[in-house]
Amino acid sequence: MRKDSTFVPLSVLNIDLESTVPIYRQLYTSLRNAILNGQLASGTQLPSTRTLALELGVARGTILNAYEQLLAEGYVEGEMGGGTYVARELPDELLQAPSIQAFPLPQDQSGRTLSQRGIAMASTAYASPYDLSPVRVFRPGLAALDAFPLKIWSQITARHARQRSYDLLNYGDPAGYKPLRQAIAAYLGSVRAVKCDPEQVIIVTGSQQALDLSARVLLDPGDDVLIEDPCYLGAKGALLGAGAHLIPVPVDKEGMHITSEMVRSATARMAYVTPSHQYPLGVTMSLARRLALLEWARRAKAWILEDDYDSEFRYKGRPLAALQGLDTSGRVIYIGTFSKVLFPALRVGYMVVPPDLVDGFVSARTTIDLHPPTLGQVILTDFLDEGHFGRHIRRMRELYTGRQAALVSAVEQELKGLLDVSSNEAGMYLIGWLLNDQDDQRASEIAAAYGIEAPPLSTFRIEPGNSQGLLLGYTAFSEDEIRNGVQRLAEALRSMI
Ligand SMILES: Cc1ncc(COP(=O)(O)O)c(C=O)c1O
Repeated sequence: MRKDSTFVPLSVLNIDLESTVPIYRQLYTSLRNAILNGQLASGTQLPSTRTLALELGVARGTILNAYEQLLAEGYVEGEMGGGTYVARELPDELLQAPSIQAFPLPQDQSGRTLSQRGIAMASTAYASPYDLSPVRVFRPGLAALDAFPLKIWSQITARHARQRSYDLLNYGDPAGYKPLRQAIAAYLGSVRAVKCDPEQVIIVTGSQQALDLSARVLLDPGDDVLIEDPCYLGAKGALLGAGAHLIPVPVDKEGMHITSEMVRSATARMAYVTPSHQYPLGVTMSLARRLALLEWARRAKAWILEDDYDSEFRYKGRPLAALQGLDTSGRVIYIGTFSKVLFPALRVGYMVVPPDLVDGFVSARTTIDLHPPTLGQVILTDFLDEGHFGRHIRRMRELYTGRQAALVSAVEQELKGLLDVSSNEAGMYLIGWLLNDQDDQRASEIAAAYGIEAPPLSTFRIEPGNSQGLLLGYTAFSEDEIRNGVQRLAEALRSMI
């Protein structure tokens, strides 16, 4: 027997005979914790299985089970009949685990211990439109899911399942499924005037991944980034999560207000914009501003993230040409998504990156999730190639035109003097401008009590602004639901006065 051995005080064993956790498991956990926190020093002899079984009033096999587990994991050592000892070779740092707490790790507000990056990411997370609470009228940015051609989608899915192709089960291309990249490049070239070949298209799991990837691949912590104010909170979160320093740039009727002074000073590394349909104000960036922004990027050798999240929904004329198509110096990263035009659970988006960035982006993405899931991409490719996508967009444009008109006319009838909306040629929601200086946060809270989901405009502002509004999504609701919602909103706003 070793000289330094002592018997284990029973007090270190925290055994509850009434618990549903098996006793051998409780014993194993107590002994393991006692070893890790130094209560049981290395070399300490454990009681024999027979003695401990008698003391605890349990079967000897229970004790044996716990000891065998500890033996297998290297916490104890010994031979049958020769006693069981706390292992001598446990690394010191393992045995001194509690002292690690002497070095305080960064914590978020609720005291959780996260890395600085983790805190930045968690504290800017934007959950609101993606929460799982039941959808209430006017939730913005949600497609008419009940009008989605699910039957066609299911048929394509079944067809692929019947083919039993093992290729579908294997690892895929980190840049995405090639036929889908080809279909998207063709679509973007003809409909959005995006200049690209399929090699530049990278499939991502929604725009959010494209924003996160771009921020991480192109920025260093502390880099300045110009961002529209008010802005899409998903973009703000991704940028802050990568450690960017945001420079809010006001948005007016012509979009992000790039001044000639900004173009001259040109220090930031990146700009984030939604030129086709600014989120959330809904304006379209003028040609003069687009050219100024491109000039700024060229001089600053900076990147422009063009988030083209809902440009399919233009109700008059053709979709506008993308900013990317005007870029002659390869500074634009174009981002699109199927979340709005099809359905968000698909989690398929895409980015078009300048040719010399493709390798960097694709390699970086492999360290995150290797590649996007294959099956959804394969189904989507057929959906595009067989013309269902084009038909679906045309049907939705018609449906949404009617829904927007219903919203505008109901607001004009029911909310005179309280809220103003103007129709918009594009998008999936309108801004209801609050009259009488009403506070939009409060209006949104009161509306929620009336079963309305209308986020306040001020939530999206970086610098405080004086115009107060509510975002009113109309695409996911029938005209009856819209009229009824407007009546309830009128009651809510009247109750505030
Ligand atoms: C401006 C903007 N970009 C992107 C998205 C879509 O994100 P995702 O493709 O990750 O679903 C949204 C959705 O709300 C959005 O409003």
